[in-house]
Amino acid sequence: MSEKLLKVENLKVSYHTYAGEVQAVRGVSFELNEGETIALVGESGCGKSVTARSLMRLNKVPPAEIKEESKVLFQGKDIYQLSEKELCQYRGGSVSMIFQDAMAALNPTMTIGNQIVENIRHHSSLSKKEAMEKAIVLLKKVGLSEPNKRIKQYPHELSGGMRQRVMIAIAFANEPKLLIADEPTTALDVTIQAQIIDLIKELQKEEKTSVIMITHDLGVVANIAQRIAVMYAGLIVERGNSRDIFYHPKHPYTNMLLEAVPRLDHNAKEELASIAGTPPDLLNPPKGCPFCTRCRYCMEICTEKRPPVYEFEENHEASCWLYALKKPAEDAPFTKETAHE
Ligand SMILES: Nc1ncnc2c1ncn2[C@@H]1O[C@H](COP(=O)(O)OP(=O)(O)O)[C@@H](O)[C@H]1O
Ligand code: SF4
Ligand SMILES: [Mg+2]
Repeated sequence: MSEKLLKVENLKVSYHTYAGEVQAVRGVSFELNEGETIALVGESGCGKSVTARSLMRLNKVPPAEIKEESKVLFQGKDIYQLSEKELCQYRGGSVSMIFQDAMAALNPTMTIGNQIVENIRHHSSLSKKEAMEKAIVLLKKVGLSEPNKRIKQYPHELSGGMRQRVMIAIAFANEPKLLIADEPTTALDVTIQAQIIDLIKELQKEEKTSVIMITHDLGVVANIAQRIAVMYAGLIVERGNSRDIFYHPKHPYTNMLLEAVPRLDHNAKEELASIAGTPPDLLNPPKGCPFCTRCRYCMEICTEKRPPVYEFEENHEASCWLYALKKPAEDAPFTKETAHE
């Protein structure tokens, strides 16, 4: 059995603002094995980035508050108990992160080469020359042509896709155990998006890195994630392996997300379902199911009590009263409608 690389237990993160406490993440738990890819998927504002940043201890405290019961264990060690030195090694050494906006993450006043070298030398004892040689190898590996020329260029001289490749080179520079990719392709054209996903997949395989792929677009993760966790209003509402989520979705929200994914077998003229309604206000989240205001199956109990987790089979579960109450499957029309087979 492969060892658990990461264990997130009951992660709760709030932001203290003038308007009150924004409960951005309200009890998220998941685990990741070595070499595995998990996707965190959900609409904008559901807590994906706050979750990601919590795994790197990047949320500024205050205004953020990581609730006491939260645990993030990396190789069995609570990252919130790491010393400054250990944290330094953890960030950018054991775990790397890439973001949507590579331009903002890169230093505009430094050459690509120097930025990679700085990162390598921060985590190793390589000389400047050795680190530069490694940087060239890395740039080649992420598919940049003429790496000898690229190292002398500045971020603004590269295209968006190239900059994201540079970010990936930096992320993989120190052979991380875990890569957290927060919407890495959202700012890119569709064709470049696919190339970047393929690149991450390739490197992940080669380096046996675990990946947390974060996106609002379920379509992006179909070919890369073994497991998918669907987030809504700071909670994971459904989780399962990729096949289960795509072909046997159980939660009405997952179903809605799937309807918004363009599909090859759909007539191009057919209109893509847009996601109607808006997620709840996290300043004052509903006490029952967070999806109740948008769910066409909403029952009275849904507005009153948070639905318990219902397990369908191993590793496939959803939090929805339709199942918890053992409503007959026939009564949940979406299970038939969405048999995406
Ligand atoms: N620095 C902050 N101050 C106040 N609220 C924040 C801050 N960062 C995030 N939030 C809130 O936390 C919630 C989750 O945000 P985020 O994790 O960025 O969503 P996602 O990445 O899924 O789009 C949102 O309601 C957002 O407004
Ligand atoms: S618990 Fe109720 S409101 Fe929530 S998704 Fe299930 S049926 Fe819809
Ligand atoms: Mg985000």
